Amino acid sequence: MNGLQREILKLKQEKEAIVLAHNYQRPEIQDIADFIGDSIELCRKARHTQARIIVFCGVDFMAQSAVILNPDKKVLMPSQGALCPMAQMLPPDYFELFKEKYPGVPSILYVNTLGEAKALCDVCCTSANAVKIAEAIPAQRLLFGPDKHLADFVAFKTGKDIIPVPAGGYCPVHVLFERDDLLKLKQKYPEALLMVHPECPHEVIEVADFVGSTSQMCRFAKEAKVRQLIVGTEIGLIHRLKKEVPDKEFIPANPEAICTAMKAVTLEKVYLSLKEEKYEVVLSKEAINQAQRALKKMMELS
Ligand code: 13P
Ligand code: SF4
Repeated sequence: MNGLQREILKLKQEKEAIVLAHNYQRPEIQDIADFIGDSIELCRKARHTQARIIVFCGVDFMAQSAVILNPDKKVLMPSQGALCPMAQMLPPDYFELFKEKYPGVPSILYVNTLGEAKALCDVCCTSANAVKIAEAIPAQRLLFGPDKHLADFVAFKTGKDIIPVPAGGYCPVHVLFERDDLLKLKQKYPEALLMVHPECPHEVIEVADFVGSTSQMCRFAKEAKVRQLIVGTEIGLIHRLKKEVPDKEFIPANPEAICTAMKAVTLEKVYLSLKEEKYEVVLSKEAINQAQRALKKMMELS
């Protein structure tokens, strides 16, 4: 543990703060976090913590969800640059146009959206529960945004008629995985199982042994009866996998799959944000009330 990490641990105690970190965070941040998880687990932790301050080490939509579910807490976002590009792909007014075009069709929005867009949908979902949420809605036709690939995955698993909104939303990290590269890796490591995230394109998902959220991949890796696993998601997850499953080998499916938004959070920024209690995530009461409905519905259904 380095000096800065020790300072953060001290500040956490003094200020009754907890650090929540997403699975893609830098290793040195994961190592000082009170909890590391996927989007839904971080929502649950934020909702139930007794801490006075939450230092949210993840991207904007995740920190906003923490505020929406827990409006009385001070939620700090250490880096102003941690903006998920996918969340920007669905401007709220564009989503409204789609809702007008398909009146009466229920809508699901991935949590990777802006708070104002969440306020307009029927229910939110994360990668861990998208299929379950779609199944729980008693309609064959659904609007789903902003990730076209997650929409394809939900359509494939449920057999429902999913209309992606916008037509081509995507995660710039998960489109870096290519089917041919993965097939070559599977040939090179014939005993290994391939895990991928549902944000990957369908042709990649077709060759995977397991598809799931980042934390679902951790659970799969622990239980899998193999010694090697190929990891088809952002490389940050490999730090947690190596720590929690030390007896297995993890092979990155693409070592360049790096989310620059997640990596905008540094140890120094965590320290400064907690020390000065700066970069609090502030949302209007109206935005909180509206988006809370869709997020709470997700928590009930999942
Ligand atoms: P998870 O909820 O699976 O951690 O995914 C979040 C994310 O941003 C994936 O790119
Ligand atoms: Fe957004 Fe993709 Fe980064 Fe996840 S990995 S935060 S979806 S850009």
